[in-house]
Amino acid sequence: LLGLETKEIGKNISYHESLASTQKLAHKLADSGAEEGTLVIADEQTQGKGRLLRTWHSAKTGIWMSLILRPRIPMQQAPQLTLLAAVAIVQAIEDTTSIFPTIKWPNDILINGKKVTGILTEMQAEADRIHSVIIGIGINVNQSLEDFPDDIKETATSLALEEGEPISRTSVIQSFLKHFEILYTLFLKEGFKPIKLLWESYAVSLGKEIKASTLTGVLYGKAIGITDDGVLLLKDSLGEIHSIYSADIEIN
Ligand code: BTN
Repeated sequence: LLGLETKEIGKNISYHESLASTQKLAHKLADSGAEEGTLVIADEQTQGKGRLLRTWHSAKTGIWMSLILRPRIPMQQAPQLTLLAAVAIVQAIEDTTSIFPTIKWPNDILINGKKVTGILTEMQAEADRIHSVIIGIGINVNQSLEDFPDDIKETATSLALEEGEPISRTSVIQSFLKHFEILYTLFLKEGFKPIKLLWESYAVSLGKEIKASTLTGVLYGKAIGITDDGVLLLKDSLGEIHSIYSADIEIN
């Protein structure tokens, strides 16, 4: 990637035409001591991994990448990095297209209500200390509608579909890395507060009636905010407030 302006983030790039999953290789590299900011990119993934054990469709023309981080932060703060990455992606999309995306908690980026990006954050820890955090990012860039499998044709979109013309994947990656580095530096210095404010300015789910499907059941209520740890707060019809750590959200 020529012309990269960052110092750490994306300085080392492991690029591949095809991989099972960039996430898998990133874990391996992290285990063998890869530096903070190492980025794994593939043009195509044959076994892309989504959240909640789903598969992630990753044919050519998208951006499939995993970023290795080694932050010295308490373990429970690791999920904040997902929200940070979402902000950096929104900023990169705004920089490289005329689109203004929104974020659906915790980590889907939407354009006109359709999903353009997914983020999967995985952490490896040793005795309460973070060994590495791998942020996996999938961005649909130049797919046409036919490129998506039938079951997501209604709910997925790509940057090119929304913009009406092809978008340079390199520009999106460069811009993402630049924004990520700025936000990450701020985060390590000043904590999550400034990131949270930015995240909230892009969030669509806050203040809305939502349905949250968690691994243990379904909850209905109003999304009233996120905590400093990035946990979603949902107020049900009885006024009870629930903390949601992981779920799929539908906005009613
Ligand atoms: C989601 O389910 O919304 C998260 C999808 C994350 C997909 C990305 S693509 C790059 C990285 N490698 C993977 O196998 N998954 C993540």
